[in-house]
Amino acid sequence: MKSTSKPQGRLLYAQSGGVTAVINATAAGVIEAARAQGVSVYAARNGILGALREDLIDTGKETKAAIAALRHTPGGAFGSCRYKLKSLDSHRVEYERLIEVFRAHDIRWFLYNGGNDSADTALKISQLGKAMGYDIRCIGVPKTVDNDLAVTDCCPGFGSVAKFTAVSTLEASLDVASMADTSTKVFILEVMGRHAGWIAAAAGLAGEGADAPPHLILFPEKAFDETAFLAKVKATVERVGWCTVVASEGLRNKEGQFLAEAGTRDAFGHSQLGGVAPVLAALVKEKLGYKYHWALPDYLQRSARHLASHTDAEQAYAVGKAAVEYALAGMNAVMPVIVRTNDAPYRWKITPAPLAKIANREKKMPASFLTRDGFGITAAARRYLAPLIQGEAPVPYGKNGLPLYVLLKNTAVAKRCEVFST
Ligand code: F6P
Repeated sequence: MKSTSKPQGRLLYAQSGGVTAVINATAAGVIEAARAQGVSVYAARNGILGALREDLIDTGKETKAAIAALRHTPGGAFGSCRYKLKSLDSHRVEYERLIEVFRAHDIRWFLYNGGNDSADTALKISQLGKAMGYDIRCIGVPKTVDNDLAVTDCCPGFGSVAKFTAVSTLEASLDVASMADTSTKVFILEVMGRHAGWIAAAAGLAGEGADAPPHLILFPEKAFDETAFLAKVKATVERVGWCTVVASEGLRNKEGQFLAEAGTRDAFGHSQLGGVAPVLAALVKEKLGYKYHWALPDYLQRSARHLASHTDAEQAYAVGKAAVEYALAGMNAVMPVIVRTNDAPYRWKITPAPLAKIANREKKMPASFLTRDGFGITAAARRYLAPLIQGEAPVPYGKNGLPLYVLLKNTAVAKRCEVFST
């Protein structure tokens, strides 16, 4: 519904952190909701860096069809970043720069679409208005495949990676089962999720019962126990004939060290993870002598829009739309979060939650979601996870057999400020 008086000022939207299969659906929700209110939307190129560098994009130059196509296009249409704003006290110059850019372009609402680190950035910016005498409202918009944001029942991006993981576990297991008699006995799939095992848990939806895959899930919440792992792999192969293992990239040993680190760290101090599957595979070969295959879907899992969850795609759009409504209603320092009102049939709604309760917190899997031996998921976990992968969100395909993804024009806004180096 169009309101009678047009709100004054512009809205700035930025994407942050690791992108997802549906973050652009959130962008579509933001832009379409703002357009409906006659509000012009700029996007910052590469997240908060675009705001600091005054590298802004005029989304008004994009057609209605291009914005609508964002709903089925993966990646981050405006570019994303990992960049930590330091404290206002120690890095005042960065905050002054943001206000300078906001003022120059009459930005009155800033929507930052990201995970827990980005919620911290959004919270800091929400406090700027008072500290620097410029009226700016800031809304955090949730997104992360890791599903580790506090307060919200789930995070846009997770349902789709969960569906990809459950489907891939099922498909690869059918493959292994066919060959096990004379060839591969153990298949190991490594999934993302950093310190939280939500994605690994989603693999558990592939099957139910002791003989159904995945036979073992290795969670970051539970220290790796080599003896128990090898014993269960061996018992499974002897009983079933083959064994599927799903391991979280964030798996740690009893000393708390990651089993596999790439050796690099991002701006927030997070270690780059990856490579736990080959470590486990080598162990299986050395100690049990079984032939193995392992897979590391890495970016394939968080970009697989062709296998997105309908529920997830809808929620991603809804949080974008709600963020605009909150901003235009004058709210500040909040995030639209997903509240589950019923498990089956699944029902959800969006409500505002304070950013202060979300910034820098990490939601891990509750102990009640892990089976007693720590290698599987419980009925409670299934109840939580199952609705999130429900429904398909098909992408249109072209004559060449490839999806019709949109590439925006991303027309730059003329600069009005001095150059600022980041
Ligand atoms: O954004 C979360 C995430 O997808 C993690 O699961 C993963 O560990 C990380 O991003 C990878 O980050 P980057 O793409 O910056 O290496």
